[in-house]
Formats: sequence, structure tokens, C-alpha cells
Amino acid sequence: MKALVLAGGSGSRLRPFSHSAPKQLLPIANRPVLEYALENLRAAGIHDVGVIVGDRGDQIRDALGDGSRLGLRLTYLRQDRPLGLAHCVRVARDFLAADDFVLYLGDVMLLDGVGALVSDFGASRPAAQLAVHRVDDPRAFGVVELDAEGRVAALVEKPEEPRSDLVLSGAFAFTSAIHAAVDAITPSRRGELELTDAVQWLVTGGAAVRVTRQPGFVADTGRPEDVLACHRRVLDALPVAAAPDGAVEASELTGAVRIEPGARVTASRITGPVVIGAGARLHDCVVGPHVSVGGDCALTGAGITDSIVLDGASVSDVRGIRGSIIGRSVRIAGRADAAHRLLVGDHGHVDVGSGDAV
Ligand code: TTP
Repeated sequence: MKALVLAGGSGSRLRPFSHSAPKQLLPIANRPVLEYALENLRAAGIHDVGVIVGDRGDQIRDALGDGSRLGLRLTYLRQDRPLGLAHCVRVARDFLAADDFVLYLGDVMLLDGVGALVSDFGASRPAAQLAVHRVDDPRAFGVVELDAEGRVAALVEKPEEPRSDLVLSGAFAFTSAIHAAVDAITPSRRGELELTDAVQWLVTGGAAVRVTRQPGFVADTGRPEDVLACHRRVLDALPVAAAPDGAVEASELTGAVRIEPGARVTASRITGPVVIGAGARLHDCVVGPHVSVGGDCALTGAGITDSIVLDGASVSDVRGIRGSIIGRSVRIAGRADAAHRLLVGDHGHVDVGSGDAV
């Protein structure tokens, strides 16, 4: 069995971060979202993986290489424009050949992996097996309707009046029957070849299409608030680890705190779960819970909770940072005269507090 991981797309909901890097490389606990997907595939026994990439394919290639570090064989497949999820299957036709495969959206976090999906698919080898989960408000999702026997009766993309609370989780297993389906469909109103239309084509033609209840936490990391929610869940599972020798001085650490090699924490209070990246420097800070500090960050006099700070960023003399994502090499500094001076990139987002809270 092969896998096809979709890591192209435009990432417009995750601006400004997607301006400079593909959203699938956004780190959660200092590891790119995409790496979690690839690890889940390896854990399910799949090693031959095609990765669909768009304009920023070079950055993904630089981060993942040939996959050997993750125990995988990666083949990069270039999609010239983001023409839809089913278009990705067309692009990958030669790579996939006649093999069964798992299609995995590269911006989705499935904390309990794809083992259940792969084993259900293997048991009866339907044309398509869809990972699904329940949500309270399905209107923003691909909704799956089942018949009395539990087979898929219909798929509806973002319905205004959903007839089911089961939605697509972002992982699918297919036989080669999907190729005729992606060839048969035409672009949707938004101009994309929709995977839901291709699967609906299989259903309408009488092919077996089944569902697997996706266990554990499922998150699409398409929007900043989803990234932070996912980050909290990943950090909640962080094991308590001993800090490297000499990494901590005159500081108080509680809960699960991971300090990576070469990082240094002085005169600070860290409340886990927190990850502090390699080479980061923290002095006189109050950090956590639910914070990831990227590699080589410099934080002085910072107060941060429920946030992700990317590599090389610096924060000095600003407390009360919460629910934030701070991009690579961003500099945030407190000013004694209390004026706000903002040099914020395109599509940035700043909420300036009164200073009373937190
Ligand atoms: P989406 O999140 O649905 O699409 P997007 O990246 O264009 O996002 P936005 O709405 O914020 O602009 O895509 C799901 C995954 O599939 C994601 O990892 C990107 C990838 N993808 C492709 O590889 N090619 C495509 O043509 C599309 C539409 C998505």
C-alpha cells in the first residue's frame, strides 16, 4: 500500500504564516504538522509516500529530504496550481499506478493515527474507506450520510442544513477505482476538482464506500485558532523530561517541560506543558502553560501563555502575551513610553490589550 500526502494548496486561511512557508511546515511542539502525518503513515506500515507540493515545494523538500530520517521513501509530485484535492490524485496517477493507497491531507492532525482506517480498509477492501468523526456543527465540513446498513449514502460539502453530524477527518483509503472517479468529475463552482465529488461518483455508481470512526483528537490546522487548539492537545501529552545539564539556573519549572539541547533558562518561571527549542535563551520570563518556543529564540522579561513562538523570534519586556503565534525572526519589544509601534506584515493580526488583564 502507498500513501499520497497533500502538501500543496494556497493556505489562505493561515496568512500571514503561509506567505513565507507552506502551512504544513508550521511547527506544533517544534515539529512540522506534516511530520506527524508522515509518522502516522509509517506507524500504519506504509513506507512509500508521494507528497503533492505546490509553489513552496522546495521548502518541504529541504525539511523532509528523501524521508529516510523518518523511515520513509518520499517522492515529490509537483502540482502547478491548487486545482483541488481530486486533482492531486490525477497528478499522482503514475506514482500510484494500480496500487491501493491512503490519501492524507497534510494540514490535518490525527493524534491517534490511521491504523484503524488502514485495518478496516484491509478487512473488506471497498473502493473507498473514509475516516470520519462527529462534530457539533458540521456546516463547515464535508458531511457524510450513512444508510441503514452503515454504508455511505451521500457526501455533501459544507451543507447549510446538514443531515448528519459525521464529517470527513482528512484521511481516506482507496483502491485504484478512484482514478476513474477523478477522471469523470468536473470542477465545482469554486473551480476545484473536489474529492467529495469523486467519492460521491463512486457511491452513485454502486461501489462500496465505507467509514471508519477516527479515534482520538482530529484537527484541521487551516486557521490560527485551530493550530492553537491542536497545539494544546499535543502539549497535553508531553512527557515530563529531565532538563539537560546546565540548561536551567535560578528558575522554577513545574509540569512537563522539554528543554532542547543548547537552550538556557535563567531567573524564570516555566509552567508546563512547555517546549523550549534548541539554542533558545529565556531570562526573567514567566512562560506557560501550553507554550512552544522555537529554536534560537531570545525571550527577556516576557510573559507568554497558550502560544507558539517560531524559530529566531525575540520578545523583550512584554508580559501578557496569550493565544498568539509569533512568526520566524519576529521582534517584539516593550516600550517605556507606552506608545504602540507596529511594523506588521501583510495579513498580520494584532490585538493590543489595555494592559490591565492577565
Ligand atoms: P485545504 O486546506 O482545503 O486548501 P488550501 O490549502 O487551499 O487552504 P485555504 O482554504 O486556507 O486557502 O487543503 C487541504 C490540504 O490539501 C492542505 O494540506 C493543502 C492540500 N491541497 C493540495 O495539495 N492541493 C490542492 O489543490 C488543494 C486545494 C489542497
